[in-house]
Amino acid sequence: MRKKILAANWKMNLTQAQAEAWLQEFKSLFSLVEQQELRIYPSAIYLKEVYAFEFHAGAQNFYFETEGAFTGELSLAQLQSIGVSSVLVGHSERRHLFHENTALIQDKVKACARAQMPFVLCCGESSSVRERGQHLAYIEAQLKAALQDFKAEQYSLLTVAYEPIWAIGSGLSASVEQITEMHLFIRHFLEMQLGPNAHKIPVLYGGSVSFENAADIFSCPSVDGALVGGASLDPQHFYQLWQALSA
Ligand code: PGA
Repeated sequence: MRKKILAANWKMNLTQAQAEAWLQEFKSLFSLVEQQELRIYPSAIYLKEVYAFEFHAGAQNFYFETEGAFTGELSLAQLQSIGVSSVLVGHSERRHLFHENTALIQDKVKACARAQMPFVLCCGESSSVRERGQHLAYIEAQLKAALQDFKAEQYSLLTVAYEPIWAIGSGLSASVEQITEMHLFIRHFLEMQLGPNAHKIPVLYGGSVSFENAADIFSCPSVDGALVGGASLDPQHFYQLWQALSA
C-alpha cells in the first residue's frame, strides 16, 4: 500500500509571527496517522522553524548547482543541513512566473537524484490545452521531459503532483472524473517509464482542494493525497484535510 501525503504549500504567505502562530495551533491539533505523511512547504525563511516543530520541512525552491557564485539561491546541501527533507520541482508558478523551462527542471531533477533529495514533481495543463483535448499528451510530455535522466532504481525519491493550472487558486477544483482519468494515466506512464516499482510512487492532486471537496477527492483510489495552497494557510482548515485523508 502507498502512503498518503498531505502537503501544505504556503507559497509567499505568512509573516514570522503568523507562521509561528500557525505552527503552534496546528501542533496542538495534530496527531500522527499510520501510513499518512504530513509535509509543510513554507517560505525558505521558516524552514528551520517548521523543522524545530518536528514537522516535515520541504523547500518550495532551490538551485541545482552545489555551491558557488549564485546570488540569492539555495543549494540542496544547504537545505539538507537545516533539516529539509524534500523539495518541489516544476510547480506551474515557477514555470510561468519565473520562466523555469524544461532544461532547468531536468537539472533540478538530476540534482535531487545526486543529493538523494526526495522531490515532488508537479505537472499540469492550462485550460486551453484541456479545451483542445490534449491534456493527456501534454502531461505525458511534461513528465517524460522532466524524468528523461531519472533512473528507475531511484523511484523512492519521486512523488508526482497533478495540478491543473486552471484549478490552482481558482476555487474550481478538477472533478473526480477528471482527476481519476489523469491519475490513472500518470500511473500507467510511470509504470511504463520506471518499471515494476513505479506502483509505489505517490500521485497527489493539487488545485483548490478544500474541506468542501476533500472527501470526494480523497475517495478516489488513484489519489494518494494532496498538495494544498490556499486552504493550508488556516491551521484549522488544514487540519480538517488531514482528518479527511484518513476518513
Ligand atoms: P491551491 O494551490 O490549493 O491554492 O489551488 C495549490 C498549489 O499551487 O500547490
